[in-house]
Amino acid sequence: MSAQTQRPRITAPQITARKGQDPIICLTAYDAPTAAILDAHCDLILVGDSVGMVVHGLTTTVGVTLEMMILHGQAVMRGAKRALVVVDLPFGSYEDSPETAFRNASRVMMETGCQAVKIESGSYAAETIAYLVERGIPVMSHVGLRPQSMNVLGGFRARGRTKSVAKEIVDNAIAADKAGSFAVVVEGVSEDLANKVTKAVSIPTIGIGASAQCDGQILVTPDMLGLFDRVPKFVKKYANLNDDIEAAVQSYAQEVTNRTFPSDANTYKFTK
Ligand code: KIV
Repeated sequence: MSAQTQRPRITAPQITARKGQDPIICLTAYDAPTAAILDAHCDLILVGDSVGMVVHGLTTTVGVTLEMMILHGQAVMRGAKRALVVVDLPFGSYEDSPETAFRNASRVMMETGCQAVKIESGSYAAETIAYLVERGIPVMSHVGLRPQSMNVLGGFRARGRTKSVAKEIVDNAIAADKAGSFAVVVEGVSEDLANKVTKAVSIPTIGIGASAQCDGQILVTPDMLGLFDRVPKFVKKYANLNDDIEAAVQSYAQEVTNRTFPSDANTYKFTK
């Protein structure tokens, strides 16, 4: 397909314009074939730093590096042709100064071709968001449960149970909005608090373990496909990949053992 006939990608301003409109459909992806499948159904594909946990087997996202994000970002960009692709800036790559954030975010954009980055946004983040946006980098923010801060928070738990933390979460979202974010992920907060955030900001809220009333939803794709037994309580499994893989591998092992495995060179043809 030539550059002229290819359907244009969804842009960050188009996502912002969806505030209060049709819900924005988002999922994570980390590889080209999955991204190609999601592309027809999703407005936004996030190359989340959850890749560290769901692909690389880490116990938190803290060990994820910029190089890992770039490699997975490149793969997703090869698979997705239409959705807006956002790549997470990993822990340690943006917090210390806007200049560091710009250096790393621009590297991610240039080396992957993605259209935006996401940062987990505490109260320190507004200056960095404005700095990136002014210099041409669309930013999606992330408030509520911020997995990169899990060593401070003490675990993956819902946030905003006290009045002061709930207020801090609303304030962080407002600050991220004012600084120029094009959307904000709201993770692991009560329905009531997610609805408050959605009302308080002019940009779309993308909920995960939050509220159906957010402007959009996101899930970690291997979680919703049922690849793992243990997933957060709010995750609905839309498939049962774990069982399917188990059954497929068992059948394969059986065929190899019984020598009924198809081995004729004539069968070495692509089926589609
Ligand atoms: O890393 C990730 O997958 C995310 C989503 C959970 C929003 O940040």
